[in-house]
Amino acid sequence: LRVVLLFGGRSSEHSISCATAGGVLGAIDRDRFEVIPVGITRDGAYVLESDDPDRFALDPQHLPEVVDNGSRVRWPESAASRALTVTDASGERSLGDVDVVFPILHGRFGEDGTIQGLLELVGLPYVGNGVLASAMGMDKHVTKTVLEGAGIAVAPWVTVTRESWEHDRELWERRGRGLGLPVFVKPARAGSSMGVTKVADWAELDAALDVAFAEDRTALIESAIHGREIECAVLEGRADAPVRVSVAGEVIVTGREFYDFEAKYLDAPGVELICPADLGDGELFELQRVARHAFEAIGAEGLARVDVFLGEEGFVVNEINTMPGFTPISMFPTCWLNSGLSYPELITELIEVGHA
Ligand code: DAL
Ligand code: MG
Repeated sequence: LRVVLLFGGRSSEHSISCATAGGVLGAIDRDRFEVIPVGITRDGAYVLESDDPDRFALDPQHLPEVVDNGSRVRWPESAASRALTVTDASGERSLGDVDVVFPILHGRFGEDGTIQGLLELVGLPYVGNGVLASAMGMDKHVTKTVLEGAGIAVAPWVTVTRESWEHDRELWERRGRGLGLPVFVKPARAGSSMGVTKVADWAELDAALDVAFAEDRTALIESAIHGREIECAVLEGRADAPVRVSVAGEVIVTGREFYDFEAKYLDAPGVELICPADLGDGELFELQRVARHAFEAIGAEGLARVDVFLGEEGFVVNEINTMPGFTPISMFPTCWLNSGLSYPELITELIEVGHA
């Protein structure tokens, strides 16, 4: 199969997507798949990239990046064609017919249904979630509303837009106060903890909202759940392999405020990832039930990582990531590795299901 690996992109998680691409380029079964690496620059240009995995290693000192090398990749001209073309210094040439696109993009303009919509329009099969599930999973307010409607426990929250906040700060602070401290302030649409602040004093709310509004015009003020931070991975495949949920991973925060961007990607100390998490059989069974329910509630397809808290009242769903971080050390592949599926096998399965 000829696979377009699509990565980088216009979101604040550009580099994380590149690191994911590096992982996939290094592990993908080259006997089975011919890879066309297409990078999206921060400006949104499609360039033909190197397929050297080392170029996209996750180095905390120097996060990987798609640079504009002047080439331009073009999608098929109509839904009747699957041929990709590239124009570069040596002119225009065909890259051949594409079988499937693997959009390993995180954040807006990639994980939010927009690329999925483009691929639907040009008629190319792709891996993972469709337009609606991607759009819902990207937006924390919508995700929580839908999950709550499906009877799934979520942390209490208040949603505020930049305009409403500026119009009447007192009103919104009063609504926030109703949640009790501490709260997390988050942009509605972002990932990798970009724009997220933990607030332990209402005097910090204003600054925290500014940080969140830098990512999105809508923000959430969300009750902090007291409990363990657990993640699990979901795969949905062929007719003979319906929705499966992995074992659980756990994020143990010891020496910092929360599992923030620095801890996730910059090797900052104070967070430990454990897989499999120490859960009783009943707890694991319940987690898997909740994760499957959440996956189905947003109409997810292909894959997702469901993040939850295990508090006194049971599992509370924090969010659903429709294109989770996917470097070899990320939680999504680690959960599958501990469930008997290796990183290369996982990549093969995702691509084959996306193509089918
Ligand atoms: N948004 C990041 C990549 C994740 O969910 O893993
Ligand atoms: Mg996320």
